[in-house]
Amino acid sequence: ELGPYSHFMQKEIHEQPRALTDTIEALIDDNHFSPALFGKAAAAVFEQVDSILILAAGTSYYAALTAKYWLESIAKLPTNVEIASEYRYRESVPNPRQLIVTISQSGETLDTMEALKHAKALGQHLTLAICNVQESAIPRASELVFYTRAGAEIGVASTKAFTTQLVALFTLAATLAKQRGLLDKETEQSHLGALRQLAGSVQHALNLEPQIREWAKSFANKQHALFLGRGIHYPIALEGALKLKEISYIHAEAYPAGELKHGPLALVDSAMPVVVIAPNDALLEKVKSNMQEVKARGGELFVFADADSHFTESEGVHVIRTPRHVGVLSPILHTIPVQMLAYHAALLKGTDVDKPRNLAKSVTVE
Ligand code: F6R
Repeated sequence: ELGPYSHFMQKEIHEQPRALTDTIEALIDDNHFSPALFGKAAAAVFEQVDSILILAAGTSYYAALTAKYWLESIAKLPTNVEIASEYRYRESVPNPRQLIVTISQSGETLDTMEALKHAKALGQHLTLAICNVQESAIPRASELVFYTRAGAEIGVASTKAFTTQLVALFTLAATLAKQRGLLDKETEQSHLGALRQLAGSVQHALNLEPQIREWAKSFANKQHALFLGRGIHYPIALEGALKLKEISYIHAEAYPAGELKHGPLALVDSAMPVVVIAPNDALLEKVKSNMQEVKARGGELFVFADADSHFTESEGVHVIRTPRHVGVLSPILHTIPVQMLAYHAALLKGTDVDKPRNLAKSVTVE
């Protein structure tokens, strides 16, 4: 069942080009963003939407954080993102025109299911589930559904489920933009072109595995690690830190790089490797100056940068070049190396990669 791979997690990381292609197959065949991708009633539901609230847990919550950037920049819809177990227990202000989006690989996560029920009890009836498991509880309780087609995910740590959630959420943003008259033909074709090229770029990122395996040696013997990103790459830093802590038990934290000097910089020394996600986007120069702050404190930097970021290796600065900037889909591409880094650090530590201690694949309890 594992083929050439040592663990399900490794297999599932490498299945991502296929999983992403399958998830957007219908969209690519249609060659336009259509509400029908989200169910028969979607056009009528989307018509009513004035804002979005995304509810999820864990890695799925990080997919939601990433989606906020797309939904606000492409669809111009105010978007809030909340951890399901928080939302369900607090008093919030219901808005019947808000689209409630739940994201869940398993479709059975109790916290997310209860958050959805809570929203509905408050009179929020516009609901969309993004889910990987057909006919599971959360999509059954939702009006609209988009199924990611990652296939069965066996490793406890979510990998291909996350990147397929991202592609589904990008599709949602573009579809809403189109329905709202905010997507011209040219931009639509450019988004479709980016989606078509995505699997190829992800394959290139997977080919970085030997270099990442080398890097992992600098993490396996450490107690702590810090992940930095800015803008839409900040949630990917969060995901990288979660992957590392879950499967290698190395304490990892993620910060938006601009927050460094507001506290976490105090932790930086040569014993704490700092991973930076630094593709050539509008924030790159800001990220570079944040990196200087780390370097000046003796921190060792591990930078994922694309060919256009123009980084050179130097003492204490290691660089892996990710495939050329793929524009709006860059967060999906930059997820691949942080997944592999966590995997190889865990391998070196000899932890149970597919079944980390204390964790379950589907969390159906509170
Ligand atoms: C992390 C991980 C968990 C899940 C979370 C939500 O690698 O797998 O954080 O993402 O438990 O699970 P789903 O998406 O099934 O609702």
